[in-house]
Amino acid sequence: MLADEVRACTRCPELAATRTQVVVGSGPPDARLVVVGEAPGAVEDETGTPFVGRSGQLLDKLLDEVGLPRARVAVINTVKCRPPGNRLPTRSETANCRPWTTRQLAELSPELVLTLGLSAATWFLGRTTLGAVRGRVHEVEGRRVLPTYHPAAALRGGPRGEAMTRLREDLALAVRLVA
Ligand code: URA
Repeated sequence: MLADEVRACTRCPELAATRTQVVVGSGPPDARLVVVGEAPGAVEDETGTPFVGRSGQLLDKLLDEVGLPRARVAVINTVKCRPPGNRLPTRSETANCRPWTTRQLAELSPELVLTLGLSAATWFLGRTTLGAVRGRVHEVEGRRVLPTYHPAAALRGGPRGEAMTRLREDLALAVRLVA
């Protein structure tokens, strides 16, 4: 099974040595929406589940607000192991993990992929800025990809910040697109 292969991965020596566990992903295999984040943080590394820390709690709340419970959404990260100290994943770590993510997307075969933050947007679209791509659907190798802000950016900007407003709008759009 793919999940077992991912859990046994040691392609990134530093991540394999420092992780508590590999965070493969969560959600139902027939989810119409797949949310893609960057990499696990401390709580995810402890629990083995993506987006369960502060960003995850905000994601759950916003998904509830737009009428799509988290339980109906699949959630994965471009990198499955926590980078120590929450540093950004390196290019080689992202490249090492890429085949796993590609296989996950092929197995899930969602209606729509919602990317959170610049790393996940870049994974699909190449080098870009969020301002240039967010809030619109991009066709990438036959997949519909909707980039938006990372919940961490919304948290940094406060409850009435720009990123929070856009994240809400983009989630509402995502729900309409998979309805
Ligand atoms: N941030 C991410 O990008 N992914 C997680 O799983 C948690 C926080």
